[in-house]
Amino acid sequence: MLIALPEYAKIHKRSGATLRRMAERQMFETARKIGRNWVIDSDEAYPVKKRDIKNPLTVVSLFSGCGGMDLGFLGDFDFMGERYEKTCFDIVWANEINRSACETYRINIGRHIIEGDVNNVMDTLPESADVVIGGFPCQDVSINGKMLGLKGRRSSLYTAIVEAVHRIQPKVFVAENVGGLLLKQNKESLDKILEDFNGLGYAIHFQPYLAADYGVPQTRERVFFVGTRSDISEFVPPTRTHVEPITAQQAIGDLEPMEADRDFSHIWSMANASGEQGNRRLAADRPGYTIRAECHGNIQFHYSLPRRISMREAARIQSFPDSFRFPSGLRETERQIGNAVPPVLAWHVAKAVESAIERSAAT
Ligand SMILES: C[S@@+](CC[C@H](N)C(=O)[O-])C[C@H]1O[C@@H](n2cnc3c(N)ncnc32)[C@H](O)[C@@H]1O
Repeated sequence: MLIALPEYAKIHKRSGATLRRMAERQMFETARKIGRNWVIDSDEAYPVKKRDIKNPLTVVSLFSGCGGMDLGFLGDFDFMGERYEKTCFDIVWANEINRSACETYRINIGRHIIEGDVNNVMDTLPESADVVIGGFPCQDVSINGKMLGLKGRRSSLYTAIVEAVHRIQPKVFVAENVGGLLLKQNKESLDKILEDFNGLGYAIHFQPYLAADYGVPQTRERVFFVGTRSDISEFVPPTRTHVEPITAQQAIGDLEPMEADRDFSHIWSMANASGEQGNRRLAADRPGYTIRAECHGNIQFHYSLPRRISMREAARIQSFPDSFRFPSGLRETERQIGNAVPPVLAWHVAKAVESAIERSAAT
């Protein structure tokens, strides 16, 4: 008997949005769309994971920061009432130069992170891994930075990803950077990055992603480069999940009456109003603006309260679950949150990577 997908979701104790995403990815045999609604045969068994979690796909993570992208790749967290299920990935090696970010990573993701300059730890990379991921430092191509392109010391660090992929030959690699990399003035940098990535012999897919389209309450735009080895199926990017974006008020409204609480990172900068982006006030009925790392306390103002947003509010706007802890002080926490890939966006990319690998295994 055909029933509505939300009904099937209730029977299997899953969220309707999760099942809709699964249906769009053709994970059900009988699900189909009638008009704007999904229906499914009530007798269809709920799909079990093809890959045994005891035999996960291994991931090497470079420029791991506090672990935003890594959390997305692992899954198994909740955000705004949605469950982001455990993926098939396990992170076996990670590296980050910043001590405070490593501390945050250790208490939330795992103790495997190696603290130090990536150029000094390449010899500790595992010989093999299924996936290499990394959000390479972006300040030099960011529209908030000085636009030094690859002449900037930090952006040229993307070559560490090239080197890691060259050594490990993973099935897939994922490199993330600011959307500004696709601007005309950064064409030279983009061409060089693509030349180096293509030189690895991987098929490269890249495109901008608007975080708000995937359930992150923020207008952050980022580009993901996904390289697939010749024996791996084509990478199909995740489809947009939110036509109506989550607003700032929906994301942080419940924190309005809450007093400052250091343990919950509900602490805010007292910096006076300053020029440019530092003066922005959130609009209650829209997603937040891009949370920046190097804003020196000039983070956006709350939409209704006479203060800047707290670190916990910034973490929400970046889609970190409330269970994610930030043990550092205000300045370092601000940097870690602003630097992070929103976990929810990373999760969607991770699931699309998982699907490409699973499809290859099946053929
Ligand atoms: C864009 S952030 C990555 C954030 C991370 N992917 C996340 O989602 O949380 C880039 C990171 O590279 C780190 N980094 C910069 N130079 C480095 C180096 N030489 N070696 C290792 N890490 C470095 C920075 O400290 C920063 O945390």
